[in-house]
Amino acid sequence: MAKKAAPKKKVPSKKLTRDEKYQLYEGSVQNPQADLDFINKEYKKLYGKKPLVLREDFCGTGAMACAWVAQSKEHFAKGIDLDMEPISYGVENHLFKLPENDQKRMEYILGNVMDNYNFKTDVVVAFNFSYYLFKKRNDLVKYFSQVRKHLKKDGAFFIDLFGGNETRQPLEESVKHKNHTYFWDCNSYNPLTAEVQYYIHFKKGETKYEKVFSYDWRMWDAQELRDVLADAGFSETIIYWEGVDKDGSGNGVFTRCTKPVENCDSWVTYICALP
Ligand SMILES: C[S@@+](CC[C@H](N)C(=O)[O-])C[C@H]1O[C@@H](n2cnc3c(N)ncnc32)[C@H](O)[C@@H]1O
Repeated sequence: MAKKAAPKKKVPSKKLTRDEKYQLYEGSVQNPQADLDFINKEYKKLYGKKPLVLREDFCGTGAMACAWVAQSKEHFAKGIDLDMEPISYGVENHLFKLPENDQKRMEYILGNVMDNYNFKTDVVVAFNFSYYLFKKRNDLVKYFSQVRKHLKKDGAFFIDLFGGNETRQPLEESVKHKNHTYFWDCNSYNPLTAEVQYYIHFKKGETKYEKVFSYDWRMWDAQELRDVLADAGFSETIIYWEGVDKDGSGNGVFTRCTKPVENCDSWVTYICALP
């Protein structure tokens, strides 16, 4: 009789703790100060004053909203997210690190960005492409309309967007940081629907943590977004483009753009919409 094979020992797959997961994420993809500087500068150009009240949609850990209230005692922020996990990390690691008086001016809302709220703000942001989760044009029109309803008269809605040929094909990019490597993995792209499946992986030491974040999105084109914003009732949209260094790489300086731009392999930019 054949000997029964010994059952294989299950090797538990290593998992990042909540704190490791968000520390790695924030250390790889976020720069709240650069976003704040950009918004402050552009809002001032539009209305000749400082924006004081921010709503951060899809806020995750709310890093940006917490940085917002730290600007002065006149600054207030609300961060909206459906998921308690990033919010709990943000409360412990961003909110509680602020002086007590600043903490009072920031509120996390465990809620849906599509819902009605009883407050209006100077600025609404939806960053890190979170609204790409709306795959149907009608849903995006509804979301943008909700944002417009919640903006003050002198308000501004900022979104970021990304594109280029390299972003619409299976491709894994990696960026080495001091203590970890970040992977941005386009796993699939459907040219008929513009649907993409992106993953974020991390490597720490010898261990690669796969699919720590997963994004089932639709890629939205810049002009399409401006059309959808107009359909949602925004009166004007401004698009920005990043300047380049001598070596041709992005220099982090975004300016208003009205001329045709270079068709880069990969780009990130902002749109600002006015109510
Ligand atoms: C890509 S993360 C963005 C986090 C953060 N804004 C950033 O810049 O890194 C997307 C976040 O959107 C949240 N989310 C998804 N659908 C939402 C909805 N309808 N309303 C509120 N939050 C939502 C998720 O829970 C997740 O934390």
